[in-house]
Amino acid sequence: MTPADHDPHGALADLSASVEDALGQISSADTLDQLRAAVSGATGKKGSLSALKSALGKVADAEQRKELGRLINDAMTRVAEAAAEREVFLTEREISARVESEKTDVTELLVGATGSRRRGRLHLVTQATERLEDVFVGLGFRVAEGPEVETDFYNFEALNMPPSHPARSMWDTFFVESETPGSLVLRTHTSPVQIRVMQEWPPPIYAVMPGRVFRRDTPDATHMPVFHQIEGLVIDRGITFADLAGTIEAFTKAFFGSEFTSRLRPSYFPFTEPSAEFDIRRPDGSWIELGGCGMVHPHVLRAGGLDPDEWSGFAFGFGIDRMAKERHGIADLREMYSNDVRFLEQFS
Ligand code: FA5
Repeated sequence: MTPADHDPHGALADLSASVEDALGQISSADTLDQLRAAVSGATGKKGSLSALKSALGKVADAEQRKELGRLINDAMTRVAEAAAEREVFLTEREISARVESEKTDVTELLVGATGSRRRGRLHLVTQATERLEDVFVGLGFRVAEGPEVETDFYNFEALNMPPSHPARSMWDTFFVESETPGSLVLRTHTSPVQIRVMQEWPPPIYAVMPGRVFRRDTPDATHMPVFHQIEGLVIDRGITFADLAGTIEAFTKAFFGSEFTSRLRPSYFPFTEPSAEFDIRRPDGSWIELGGCGMVHPHVLRAGGLDPDEWSGFAFGFGIDRMAKERHGIADLREMYSNDVRFLEQFS
């Protein structure tokens, strides 16, 4: 008996070719769409196995027809099982790929398109503060800090401004609610830290005190209601105004560059006597005021627990925001607080 005796119409050969073909397409389907196409090519309405099934009627021998029908059904089941298995595989692969591509990997945020790390940067004011500290530390100063919420005593009284002293109006203040109304303020300058340092550190003192300060000022190109100052305090024996002028000039050149110079203009502060405004001259010849300074008033030395007959000193207070503005040639202080990354990232 030859195979043709068993398969008089070539149906068996067609069946096995169709099954092999369908299984091959199913196992190589790379997407769910390709899989669907492979299944439909075998068992769909016009599929190869469906065609064989439709042709069963042509097989005259009832036994052969029955046997062929069973084989076709088995083939369809094999194809369906292989398709189901492939579908599970492809679906899981697709889900993992989506999870992988959509997951929030915080380290990705740091990696730029080139694969190199994108570095964040410090805000301009922080950069300026750190630079100022570096310059003063280089000149032999130590760095100190004080609280942003201050008592009336440190912010005014110890600085030679007793209650109702008219000079208090130079610093319009935000009061903080407290048991004794009017006794706590958001500090209007860093000068209160002078007193705290004098009370804590035995002289000689060479200190700078940077920090945030608050005033009822309307924002404009050179004013913010919240801004930053750096206070300086030198207490030693025999300190004179010449030491103050020399320190400020040395600082100006170190911070802004040798093409800048400084001048002191007579002024008034209750806590220094004599007092001066500190201006710098830009390379184009124009001047800008950056801070106040002067010789520490004897009342202030006493409030800090020091004997004015033994110790003398000078103090200064510079606006850090204005210095950053000058150093980088920024037209308007408000730009620095707009939180626009496109602006801020220019200054690294
Ligand atoms: C003072 O605050 C004094 N405590 C400075 C001082 C310290 C004098 C030690 C003597 C001895 P004044 O109010 O002028 O001074 O402020 C100092 C600097 O802070 C100003 O020159 C300016 O650079 C900056 N500044 C003042 N107000 C603002 C503001 N609203 N926004 C930004 N910067 C300001």
